[in-house]
Amino acid sequence: MPHAPTAEGRGLYISFLGMDGIGKSTLSEHLVAELRERGLTVTPVSWRSCLDADLPVWPQEALRTLWMDTFRLLFGGAVDQGEAVALPERYADWTDRRAEDRLGELQATASSPSGPLAAALVEFAGNIVLHAEVIRPALERDQVVVQETFPYKHVLKEYLLATELSAARAGGPYTPEEIDFLFAPVEAFFGGGALRPDVGVLVDGPVELALRWRLGQSGAVGVLEDLRTAGRPGNDGFIALQSASARRFHAFAQKYGWTVHTVRDAPVEANTRRGLDLVLAEIARLRPSWGLAGSGTGGTPQEAGAAEISTERVYR
Ligand SMILES: Nc1ncnc2c1ncn2[C@@H]1O[C@H](COP(=O)(O)OP(=O)(O)OP(=O)(O)O)[C@@H](O)[C@H]1O
Ligand SMILES: [Mg+2]
Repeated sequence: MPHAPTAEGRGLYISFLGMDGIGKSTLSEHLVAELRERGLTVTPVSWRSCLDADLPVWPQEALRTLWMDTFRLLFGGAVDQGEAVALPERYADWTDRRAEDRLGELQATASSPSGPLAAALVEFAGNIVLHAEVIRPALERDQVVVQETFPYKHVLKEYLLATELSAARAGGPYTPEEIDFLFAPVEAFFGGGALRPDVGVLVDGPVELALRWRLGQSGAVGVLEDLRTAGRPGNDGFIALQSASARRFHAFAQKYGWTVHTVRDAPVEANTRRGLDLVLAEIARLRPSWGLAGSGTGGTPQEAGAAEISTERVYR
C-alpha cells in the first residue's frame, strides 16, 4: 500500500519534474521565497546539496559514495582520447579535482549499456537513502520540503541512455525489452510508491525553449543532458534525450496525478508567476488551513484563474 499523504497541518513535500533547462529551479526558488514570506518553514532539498551539508556520517558518506558511483557507472567503458575514463574514488579528491566539471570537458565516446543501466539503479538507491534520511525527517518536523528536481528525471535519463546503447548494439548484453522489465517497478516506486511527493509539478514546454534557455545560461548543454555516452553529444543529442524524457514525463504525470505547468516563449517573470499561481492553488487545496488561496501577485485571483484554466492541465 502506498504511504499515506502527509497529514493536514504537518509538512508537505513538493517536487518538480521536467526537461533539463525548462525552468524547474527557477520556479522552485521563487516558490521557496513565497512560502517563506507567508511564514512557512521551508527546506529546499537536493541530493547534491547534501554532499557538503552538515549531515551525520550516515547518511552523508553513503550519499557521497553513491553520487560518485552514478558518474563512474555512467562513464563506465567510456574512452576519452584513447584513455579509459578514470574518476577519483575519495570524495575529497572528487571535489579537489573538480571531477564533475572535468567530465563536461571530455570528448564524447560510446560506453556499454551496463554502465548507464547500473547508474540508474544506483541513482535510485541514493534516492531511497535521501528520502528516508533527509526528506521524511524534515516532513516529520512539519517542514515544507521543496525539491527542485524530482529524481525520477535522472533515473529515467540513465535508463534511456542504456536503452539507446542497447538498441545500437545488436547482440549486446541487454535488449531494450529486457531493460523495460527492470525499469517498470522503479518507476512505480517513484510515482505511486514511497517516493511520491504530496504535490508533484511537471514543468512542460517545447524542447527548443529548454535548449535555448540552457545555452543562454551556460553556453553549452551539460554532461548529463545529451546522449554523449551513446555517441550523440551536443544539441542534437540534447533534443533527442530531452524529447524522449518529455514523452515519458507526460505519461508519468497523467498516471500519477501530477499538476502540469506549461511554459511559453515569454519573459521568465510571466512564466514564473503563472507557475507559482498554479502550485500555490494546489497547495491551498491540500492545506486549506494555511490560508494561501488566491494569494498570487500576478493579478487578481479571478484574472489568473480565467487566463490559466484553459491552458493548464491538472491530471488528477
Ligand atoms: N520561463 C522562462 N523564460 C525564460 N527563461 C527562463 C524561463 N525559465 C527559466 N529560464 C532560464 O532558463 C535557464 C534554465 O532554467 P533552470 O535552471 O530553472 O532550469 P532547470 O529545469 O532547473 O534545469 P536543470 O534540469 O538543469 O536543473 C535559466 O537561465 C533561466 O533563467
Ligand atoms: Mg535545476
